Amino acid sequence: MRKVVIAGNWKMHKTQADASAFVQQLMPQLEGVPDERELVLCAPFTTLGLLVDKLQGSRVQVGAQNIHWEREGAYTGEISGPMLKEVGVRYVVVGHSERRQYFGETDETVNARLKAAQINGLTPILCVGETKQQRDANETESVIVNQIKQALVDINQFNLVIAYEPIWAIGTGDTCAAADANDVIGKIRSLLDNQEVSIQYGGSVKPENVDEIMAQSEIDGALVGGASLMPDSFARLANYRA
Ligand code: 13P
Repeated sequence: MRKVVIAGNWKMHKTQADASAFVQQLMPQLEGVPDERELVLCAPFTTLGLLVDKLQGSRVQVGAQNIHWEREGAYTGEISGPMLKEVGVRYVVVGHSERRQYFGETDETVNARLKAAQINGLTPILCVGETKQQRDANETESVIVNQIKQALVDINQFNLVIAYEPIWAIGTGDTCAAADANDVIGKIRSLLDNQEVSIQYGGSVKPENVDEIMAQSEIDGALVGGASLMPDSFARLANYRA
């Protein structure tokens, strides 16, 4: 059985006070969410400890948005697996397109960060996706195949989530047609040894389109930016209608 994982990626949003208010408003709205759905909030480092604390005993897991491949060292501005683990984080986003685009993340560093996550008992959410230019040039499949193959060298596929996030659909309101996302995700699955890996779609997922996206046969969840920032809207995503 593939697990459904609905994850919010807060990116660089929310102070501790914001995060605290969010949790308070969110929790009563999750009571009807079917048990088998995994819910995750991937938050900035400064809110992780607070979230773990406030979500203790709840069904929401906490995730980080980056992890360095070394345990410690002279890497100013980075964070290590043991540090995240100590705080109680369970998930970590790896290889998000914003990290690839603005912070020099490559397929090699993505691979190293995935390994570090698994070594430290965290579940990485590996992000892949093509640009608009690549999609228009019919390169989507080759780009994704390449990203997946390079990212997954020597990676254990039994503690892994993958998110297909077409870059042109991120933060633009321009969602990938559900059927197209389903096709790409099916292609990703065909490259995997473990057919049980959960594969999410990400890119302008919102309350208005989540039901259609989650109705697709290959799509096992969503990785959500903007619509995860408001408690009511994240709750609606968690409560998607199957
Ligand atoms: P949006 O949901 O804001 O398009 O962001 C998607 C994303 O990048 C999640 O990681």
